[in-house]
Amino acid sequence: MAKNESNKKMEDIISLCKRRGFIFQGSEIYGGLAGTWDYAHLGVALKNNIRNHWWKKFVTDREDMYGVDAAILMNQEVWKATGHVSGFSDPLSECKKCKKRFRTDQMEDSKKCPDCGGEMGESKQFNMMFKTHVGAVQDDTSISYLRPETAQGMFVNYKNILDSYHPKLPFGMAQVGKAFRNEIAPRDFTFRSREFEQMEIEYLIDPKNWEEIFEHFRKEMSDFTKEIGLKKDHVYEHEIEEPAFYSKRTIDFEFEFPFGRNELYGLAYRTDYDLSRHSKASGVDLNYLDEETKERFTPHCIEPSFGLDRSVLAVLSDAYTEDELGGEKRIYMKFVPAIAPVKIAVFPLLKNKPQLVEKAKGIYKDLKKEFGAVMFDDNGNVGKRYRRQDEIGTPYCVTVDFETIEKDNMVTVRDRDTGKQERVKIEDLISHFKKLF
Ligand code: GAP
Repeated sequence: MAKNESNKKMEDIISLCKRRGFIFQGSEIYGGLAGTWDYAHLGVALKNNIRNHWWKKFVTDREDMYGVDAAILMNQEVWKATGHVSGFSDPLSECKKCKKRFRTDQMEDSKKCPDCGGEMGESKQFNMMFKTHVGAVQDDTSISYLRPETAQGMFVNYKNILDSYHPKLPFGMAQVGKAFRNEIAPRDFTFRSREFEQMEIEYLIDPKNWEEIFEHFRKEMSDFTKEIGLKKDHVYEHEIEEPAFYSKRTIDFEFEFPFGRNELYGLAYRTDYDLSRHSKASGVDLNYLDEETKERFTPHCIEPSFGLDRSVLAVLSDAYTEDELGGEKRIYMKFVPAIAPVKIAVFPLLKNKPQLVEKAKGIYKDLKKEFGAVMFDDNGNVGKRYRRQDEIGTPYCVTVDFETIEKDNMVTVRDRDTGKQERVKIEDLISHFKKLF
């Protein structure tokens, strides 16, 4: 996509998110806070649907996963043991003239300020963890950090999971939650935020089987991208040539965002790095005893790591569609029904005809009881309502008209993508939609 075209598409998506109430700038009325975003009703619903789908696929539908919801604040020793305190940093340099700061590795010319052309200062490492103090005394012993990844909240609970549930290898721990990184240059809407949500799995294995299990998760991650509606030819698997020193193999799942191809998810074989480091630093034995072979060893770990906010952004970007319907230009969000924030909207043809409204309200209540995310809409004329529902990606609209009441007890069901309308008997509506979903 040409640069102008891609900028326009991002602007269109951001503007739709604000207009229709998906995502707003964090602390907007105070001028915002860079790198923070607030989800509103429809954005929350979209995010919840993706999160719930992930949890069902990777936790509830399996027999080898244990859910975790660990504290965001952790003992600072955790981050010393993993190397985050000494090494979780990006190179930063400051312009000597305008004092603006940039990530040195993202600059075309690291000696010249991209904003004012001034001379850049020396590049320094900048730690990305947000530091805070826990308790009333602020000294070195009270330091804590907002976690920069959810992963460590699982590794530190490995022994608890083992002692409580006695799982046999291989098994996984799964967690969804916030992570925080003081990114030097937050950018591209929610793509690089300072506060974001991750969905991570730490899958513990006997190293003998790592290749097979890695392949299993590679396929599961690829399937997940399709299930949430990402276009097959927009998702790429990129083998990292030189993975981080603790990883034997890493694949990045990249996505064709409007601003270019960029990382969506990661899959890494982290060896026994994390558990070994925690065992050494805490002095707690984190070995596993294989009861059949009587072998004792530190399990190795395969880590599928997903960004939830990046998933939402990718879904928004692939769903955003402009076309012409009935000779008029329109915008619609082509969400798959499983993750659409609203599944069905019900309208009375006219809002000032009590019989139509009453009938429509009855249908709305029945459908809502069955499908949950159903909306009643009687604002403006039907054409306007269709536009609104198209923009929030509602797959189907149901209209109650005079024929419904006077003639056939049928309603018009309209398909978002094709605009096609069909008459369906009221008593068949639930089974009709069950088939479609
Ligand atoms: N535990 C491994 C880990 O945290 P990562 O590649 O640094 O690996 C995993 O992060 C995922 O988290 C990324 O693939 C991305 O989806 C998401 N992510 C990372 N930094 C982010 C940021 N600043 N804003 C939004 N999402 C981010």
